[in-house]
Amino acid sequence: MNQEVTKWVDFIQPTRDGQAEIAQAKAKVPASLSAEEEARVITELKQLLKEEDAVLVAHYYTDPRIQALAEETGGCVADSLEMARFGRDAKEQTLVVAGVRFMGETAKILSPEKRVLMADLEATCSLDLGCPEEEFSQFCDQYPDRTVVVYANTSAKVKARADWVVTSAIGLDIVRELHRAGEKIIWGPDKHLGHYIQQETGADMILWQGSCIVHDEFKADSLALFRQSHPDAMVLAHPESPASVLAQADIIGSTSQLIKAAEASNSTRFIVATDRGIFYKMQQAVPGKELLIAPTAGESATCKSCAMCPWMAMNSLAKLRDVLEQGINEIKVEEEIRLGAVKSLNRMLDFSEKMRLNVQASGDLADDQALFQHVGPA
Ligand code: 13P
Ligand code: SF4
Repeated sequence: MNQEVTKWVDFIQPTRDGQAEIAQAKAKVPASLSAEEEARVITELKQLLKEEDAVLVAHYYTDPRIQALAEETGGCVADSLEMARFGRDAKEQTLVVAGVRFMGETAKILSPEKRVLMADLEATCSLDLGCPEEEFSQFCDQYPDRTVVVYANTSAKVKARADWVVTSAIGLDIVRELHRAGEKIIWGPDKHLGHYIQQETGADMILWQGSCIVHDEFKADSLALFRQSHPDAMVLAHPESPASVLAQADIIGSTSQLIKAAEASNSTRFIVATDRGIFYKMQQAVPGKELLIAPTAGESATCKSCAMCPWMAMNSLAKLRDVLEQGINEIKVEEEIRLGAVKSLNRMLDFSEKMRLNVQASGDLADDQALFQHVGPA
């Protein structure tokens, strides 16, 4: 096994007065394993999961070998909304969350009685980093009449400051309902997702100016050229991508929605604007179809991520084995903060459950004011 390497990643640090600075954060490239070491680690991990009454909850952007292990051992591979639900409902007493820190925190907030372990507690997210609670809170204080809606990619403290937490799978539906109810919104931290939701719903939204370093790198000009050379391809984009990229997309959605869209489509080729880790599950869903990554700034010194989140990449099989074996890297959330955050998270989960029941009942997408009234005021 070789050594883990540390690298520095630039990200946008917005301020409460609407300015933005470039800041830097650490990311680690895990050591790679030989084939024999990898096989041994997988065997040990399977055994430890059983012994420790643990289940693996993995995001689509993690290493495909981690996703495969989660599937094989009865865990889940999902988007951030489904990871939250799966962790909450799991019968196991230990959740091993393969993803970034906010995902582990969400699991702990929803299941305080469970032990939540992560491969590396420093696996963060540029949206979370770019939205410090104190600054964001001061920003919100300037607009006391507005409902605060934050993306799940935030710290527990920011979630506690918010009225609602949303993920990309459900943000549009929740904001649409808030808008129908006449509420004006403060949105944070992702400016591209916020702008997209604002455009789609017509809601009155003031946006925090954060962004995802991975999706920010998809380039509209290069995408337009790429589409010319692949005219039959369907473009699937995550809404954290810039507006100029979303304008060229056939489908805009969360990671799980993009996989479902590929499955439902007759196209045989897709250009995908999200982290390339999604290809593992997407290819399973559409075997035989061609998946192409949307063009980024390029494999050069200026490419921060090249469509691979450096913090998701901090998860490795060996680190997951180590945390389970040693019981280290446990996520802790102060109870007072947890109690604040769980309210806004539960609003989202209740909304999503009501929407699911509504869809089941009508066989169609929810368009029902009553749905929202049952969720309870923000
Ligand atoms: P999803 O909620 O679509 O899984 O997105 C999480 C994320 O971090 C995307 O960059
Ligand atoms: Fe955060 Fe972007 Fe990484 Fe998702 S891909 S965890 S939004 S930095």
